Amino acid sequence: MSRRRRVYEGKAKVLYEGPEPGTLIQHFKDDTTDSDSQKHATIEGKGVLNNRISEFIFSKLNDIGVPTHFIRAINMREQLIREVEIIPCEVVVRNVAAGSLSKRLGIEEGTQLPRSIIEFYYKNDELYDPMVSEEHITAFGWATPQEIDDMMALALRVNDFLAGLFLGIGIRLVDFKVEFGRLYEGDMVRVVLADEISPDNCRLWDIRTNDKLDKDRFRNDMGGLIEAYQEVARRLGILFENEPKRRGPTLVK
Ligand code: TMP
Repeated sequence: MSRRRRVYEGKAKVLYEGPEPGTLIQHFKDDTTDSDSQKHATIEGKGVLNNRISEFIFSKLNDIGVPTHFIRAINMREQLIREVEIIPCEVVVRNVAAGSLSKRLGIEEGTQLPRSIIEFYYKNDELYDPMVSEEHITAFGWATPQEIDDMMALALRVNDFLAGLFLGIGIRLVDFKVEFGRLYEGDMVRVVLADEISPDNCRLWDIRTNDKLDKDRFRNDMGGLIEAYQEVARRLGILFENEPKRRGPTLVK
């Protein structure tokens, strides 16, 4: 037995060296933090659910021709991915006013936006991921204008796909955050979807009740996070047999 080489450890995930050059293993932890990393908790079973949900979404995106880092599932907590150079910009797509947009612009939570809105945030924990414009991104060399165009086009395709997927299971896709990476293939470099898509980085509201089925349950101390994530997985039809034991209140439907 030998120890795997840890390439990177973030708040919710660990990346290990993969079995072949240019691959990594993405491991989902049970840890969670709020956006300022002020609050931290370990929620048993969260990593397994996020791995399962993200793997399901990324393989569907691969199927419809959205380039992603995802190669295949490995086990309950891990997936094989392509090694990419992460572009240091978080891309948020919003369909409905909520969170920081509502606070910043005084728009009531739940207001349908006139069209989907894309925002960029500079990935920097010490600065708490400040919002930036395309001007900042190109001036400081975080991404080229072409890469920004690619990220925007891909983010909108992901939004169309996810909004339809969730609508079909009675969930409103309010907003989400994605990250992109540069994939180097010989002389070529292209922008691909990276990181994860799970209830940790989406706002998902039940269409009928407006119940929150996402990480806002943790951010706002509402409890019932695992039950909410299980509900998303159940509706997607991917809840596994040996799911983590239910604890505490059951989501009222
Ligand atoms: P916000 O309203 O707090 O700006 O969040 C917008 C969306 O982005 C929401 O779905 C949560 C997600 N998000 C992350 O995944 N990570 C983050 O660090 C932040 C601030 C937001």
